Amino acid sequence: MKILNRKQAMELLLSRVQEDNLIKHCISTEAVMRRLSLKLGHDQHVWSLTGLLHDLDYTVTQKDPSRHGLESANMLQEQLPPEAIRAIVAHASELNSAPKPSAALDYALRCAETVTGLITAAALVRPERLDGMKPNSLKKKMKDKAFAASVNRDIIKEHEKLGLDQNEFFELAIEAMQEVAGDIGLDRQT
Ligand SMILES: [Fe+2]
Repeated sequence: MKILNRKQAMELLLSRVQEDNLIKHCISTEAVMRRLSLKLGHDQHVWSLTGLLHDLDYTVTQKDPSRHGLESANMLQEQLPPEAIRAIVAHASELNSAPKPSAALDYALRCAETVTGLITAAALVRPERLDGMKPNSLKKKMKDKAFAASVNRDIIKEHEKLGLDQNEFFELAIEAMQEVAGDIGLDRQT
């Protein structure tokens, strides 16, 4: 199998997904997945691409969420390894009734893509955006259920399945998103 390279993966994403916010969400998730792979000693390329492409089918499954993940899997056959495709299907297991997450990559994708929502919401209420954001402020937002209420805190907590505590995970995820701040529109507003 010939796995997509980064450029091909980005072209594929842009050909399937038009929504600017969703593209930013995918780039954010890729960044967090990359950092998780480095931290945990997994394949950096495979984990990064799993993050970048996990919502590939969003545009076509928006009206039928029970197909979310499954259509991405169809689009990605022979282009990503089976463990990556499995994680993409499992990230939406609440919607598509596919097997529940069980591998490290499955949990990583779920907590990574979900924490990006909390971090983005937290950055948007600060003039400095991601610049200088600390895990402690994110912990408060995590507890405040009214803040970014649609972000599922239980899925974020799946970082525990990776053996990472909340502080470590938040620190890693913030740093990952800071690295791509310009690409996701969250660099400091001057
Ligand atoms: Fe997502």
